[in-house]
Amino acid sequence: MDVRPFWLAGRPATGDAELTVTNSHDGRVVGVCSVPTPEQVEEAVAAADAVRKQAAALPLHVRAAALTHVVRRLTERAEEIARLIMEENGKPIFWARGEVGRAISTFQFAAEEARRLNGETVRLDTEAASAGRLAYVSRVPHGPVLAITPFNFPLNLVAHKVAPAIAVGAPIIVKPAPATPLSSLVLGEILAETDLPAGMFSVLPVPNDRASALVEDPRLPVVSFTGSGPVGYAIMDQVPRKHVTLELGGNAAAVVLADADLDWAASRTALFSNYQAGQSCISVQRVIVEEQVSEAFLAKLIPAVEALVTGDPADEKTQVGPLVSVEAAERVESWVKEAVAAGARLLTGGTRDGATVAPTVLADVPRDTKLGCEEVFGPVMTVQTVSGVDEAFAAVNDSRYGLQAGVFTRNLDIAFRANRELEVGGVIIGDVPSYRADQMPYGGVKDSGVGREGVRSAMEDLTYEKVMVLTGLSSL
Ligand code: SIN
Repeated sequence: MDVRPFWLAGRPATGDAELTVTNSHDGRVVGVCSVPTPEQVEEAVAAADAVRKQAAALPLHVRAAALTHVVRRLTERAEEIARLIMEENGKPIFWARGEVGRAISTFQFAAEEARRLNGETVRLDTEAASAGRLAYVSRVPHGPVLAITPFNFPLNLVAHKVAPAIAVGAPIIVKPAPATPLSSLVLGEILAETDLPAGMFSVLPVPNDRASALVEDPRLPVVSFTGSGPVGYAIMDQVPRKHVTLELGGNAAAVVLADADLDWAASRTALFSNYQAGQSCISVQRVIVEEQVSEAFLAKLIPAVEALVTGDPADEKTQVGPLVSVEAAERVESWVKEAVAAGARLLTGGTRDGATVAPTVLADVPRDTKLGCEEVFGPVMTVQTVSGVDEAFAAVNDSRYGLQAGVFTRNLDIAFRANRELEVGGVIIGDVPSYRADQMPYGGVKDSGVGREGVRSAMEDLTYEKVMVLTGLSSL
C-alpha cells in the first residue's frame, strides 16, 4: 500500500515513521500515511511564522480564488472523498456523502465572506472635540493557527478551521485525529493546487503526545481545538495567554412537548440519536417528554429506532455503522450495563458486535450514572418523563454541558421562552439538537466550550478589530 505524504508548508513530504489507518467495521487497513519528524514540524511552524505578514496582506481575490478552487475540487472528487471518509471513520456512505456536501458549503461560504471583508467606517464627529475625524475599523488575524481536529467529521470539522483561516489571511497548521488523518491529507492535496503562498498551510499527522509542543509554541498564537473536554481544558490551562477556542462535547437534549407532531419527533430523535453511531457532539442523548404524550411517543419511538438499518457502512441502505473503534464500542456498552445495574430500564438495544452497538434506548436512568450525566458519544438515548415545560427546561439545564437543545413544539411563545431559558449555544425549535447549518454560529456554554465556529463567527474569532482614526478631514 502506498504511503501517503503529509503536507509541510504547502508541499508533500515524508517523515521517518508511518501511521496505519484501519476500518473499524472489519479491521481492514485502509491507508498508511507518513508521520513528520520533530525537525519537519519545526520547519512547518517556522514557515507559518515567516509567511504571517504576507498572509495577512493577501488580496481578497487571492483568498477567494483559493477557497473557490477547493469548492470545485471537492465537488469533482466528492464520491472518492466520501468513500475515504467512510473507510477511515466507519461512517455510513450516506452520511459521508453528506459530510462532503457540507464541506463544499463551508468553503463556499468562506469564499463569499472573504469578498465581504470591507471593514467599517465610524464617524467620530459626533462630539465637537472630534470634528473632522473618521475611524476605519478592520479585522486583523491574531496570527498563525494551530487546528487540532477530531475523528467524527474528518473533513468538515477540518474545513471549519481551514476555510475561515484562509479567508482572514491566517496561516494554519492542522493536526488531524490519528484515527482519521486521510481526509485532511486530501484537503492538503487540493490546497497545494492553489496559489496560496508556501507556509500558509501544513497538515501534520503527528501523534497526540506530540501535540503539546505545538500548543506551547509561541509562534502559533491561536489554538482552535475540537474534541473532548479534558483535552480541551488541559490546552487552555497549558497556554492561558493564547487565544484558545474549544468546541467540546455535550449530552444534547430534545424536549418533546404535548403539542408536538409525535411522528416527526419520534422519527427525528430515533435517527439523530444514532447517526454516525451517535458520534456527534449534538447527537440526541437525552429525550425529555411531557408525560401526557409519553406513552404515545414511546410507542412511535421504539419501532422507529428498531427500524434503523445497522451494518456495513459501505452498504447504501445502512443508517447506523460502527463506532470509531472496538474500544469505543466497549466503553459505550459498559456505560449501558452500568445504568441497567443501577436501575435503568432497557427499552431496546444494549448489544454490541465488534465496533457496532445496536441503537439503544433506556428509561429511568439514574442521574449519577455515567450515562445519566456524561457524554456517551454512542448510539444511546435516555428517555425522561416530565410534568410540563418548567420541568422540561429544568431537566435540559440539569447538565454541565450546553451545546445545543431541540424543542418539539408548535407554540411560538414557548419557542422564545426556550431561547431565553435554555443554557445552550443553540436552540432548535421543531427539530433535534443535531441540526447544524455550516453558516450559523456554533459553539457551547458551560463545559461545552469557549468561542464560536460557523464560517463568519470563526472569521471573527480568528481576528481582532483594529481601528485607524483619520484626522483633519474637512469634508466628511
Ligand atoms: C460536532 O460534532 O461538534 C459537529 C456537529 C456537526 O458539525 O454537525
